[in-house]
Amino acid sequence: MSTPVLALTGVHRTYPGTPPVEALRPSDLTVRPGDHLAITGPSGSGKSTLLNIIGLLDRMTGGEYLLNGRSVGLMTELGRTSWRSRQIGFVFQSFHLLNYRTALENVELSMLYGTVGRRERAARAREALSRVGLDHRIDSFPGTLSGGERQRVAIARALAARPSVLLCDEPTGSLDSRTTGVVLDLLEELNQDGLTLLVVTHERDVAARARRRITISDGQLHETEMDSGVAAGAGSLAASGTDVRVQGESTGEGTPA
Ligand SMILES: Nc1ncnc2c1ncn2[C@@H]1O[C@H](COP(=O)(O)OP(=O)(O)O)[C@@H](O)[C@H]1O
Ligand SMILES: [Mg+2]
Repeated sequence: MSTPVLALTGVHRTYPGTPPVEALRPSDLTVRPGDHLAITGPSGSGKSTLLNIIGLLDRMTGGEYLLNGRSVGLMTELGRTSWRSRQIGFVFQSFHLLNYRTALENVELSMLYGTVGRRERAARAREALSRVGLDHRIDSFPGTLSGGERQRVAIARALAARPSVLLCDEPTGSLDSRTTGVVLDLLEELNQDGLTLLVVTHERDVAARARRRITISDGQLHETEMDSGVAAGAGSLAASGTDVRVQGESTGEGTPA
């Protein structure tokens, strides 16, 4: 079997404070190439914490995390930055585009920290924008684009670096329902072409598109079993310590979104 894209074993994250916040309890998660996962849970349950650890934006407190077979726990900050730029694509609710750069420039800029030469960057940026259906908008500034178009630029930006996994944090959270459908169709198509996709969402119709569904509450992961035919071979999840979870031991209550 191929090397998992993500393999987390007993990964946890505690934020210091009085009392400390156990934002992610020891968790195991295996994600294989081509998987499509949705992660849902109430506000403050640990979704962003998990995504930030997976995306190498934050460090775990303990456990082991292999990203494409490489252990990231002991990497230096520089090593993590470079590994992240090559392996991880991010899509955020609020797009995070630079307003005074064209769509093409926004996509090209994502490759500045990599090893991709100037011409290759331009070619890949055009290709990625074409992939998301925006050939005709490459010279447009974000302010002149609709929300759905902006999110497609952001998806193109993430794709141009050819990541092994795309992490989406509420990717349709700022979009109306019609545009949401367009963006979800695109993500689904990319997944069918082999892209590994991990989507954090609180929207049911977004989660319904995924082949694996993970819920998280109080920092504890649970995988909802889908009908066996679909779930077979699609990787596995086991939440370490499921049995010792203490009801009412809330860490996230009263936390605003
Ligand atoms: N930097 C931080 N310092 C302290 N506590 C934090 C920090 N970030 C998140 N938390 C806490 O960790 C818990 C999980 O937060 P988060 O992962 O952002 O949840 P979600 O994304 O599901 O809303 C919450 O209780 C939150 O208040
Ligand atoms: Mg969050």
